[in-house]
Amino acid sequence: MSYNIGYFVGSLASNSINRVVSKALIALAPENLSFTEIQIGNLPLYSADYDADYPEAGTALKKAIEASDGLLFISPEFNRSIPGALKNAIDWGSRPWGTNSFARKPTGLLGASPGAIGTAVMQSSMRSVLSFLDAPQLNSPEVYLQYRPEDFGEDGSISNPDTEKFLAHYIGEYAAFVERVLDSTAAGHI
Ligand code: FNR
Repeated sequence: MSYNIGYFVGSLASNSINRVVSKALIALAPENLSFTEIQIGNLPLYSADYDADYPEAGTALKKAIEASDGLLFISPEFNRSIPGALKNAIDWGSRPWGTNSFARKPTGLLGASPGAIGTAVMQSSMRSVLSFLDAPQLNSPEVYLQYRPEDFGEDGSISNPDTEKFLAHYIGEYAAFVERVLDSTAAGHI
């Protein structure tokens, strides 16, 4: 089966290292996965005041999530948590109440930082959020990537064979996870 994966890059920076990692990951993905970026930079700050009349940007975000077979989050850690722009997009996708677009979507989560913790604290926060949103998560393998510029080209090419193997393993496991979750859902098991 082929699967369309919507992916979020949790950084708005033009030189984002997490965007580089997203490119690397896509290049390493099995052929049955295709990828569409779900943009987060055009959204106003969410308020419940919008619920009665959702703006186009919020509706487009929800449609993009719902059109995806699975979701991937590739994000930095900001102040030991989820970057505001990404959390804002998640809040938009989760509302209006009763229309949570993330429910039952198989999700993968990874992040890169120049620091040694490699976004572990952000990922811990994200896992709580994804649990609350009823989104199944790939629990293992985990990717806490300490980003070394010499390992990556801007186009997502990887010069470090260990990093390449590590990310290829992750995205292969993610593809298998998406298939498992969607098969179980179709069979009525979850
Ligand atoms: C950071 N950075 C950072 N790094 C980290 O490992 N843990 C953290 O809590 C933070 N906090 C933080 C807050 C803010 C506001 C900024 C701008 C940065 C450093 C961060 O990992 C680094 O800037 C990365 O390059 C950000 O990822 P992108 O935007 O390049 O993908």
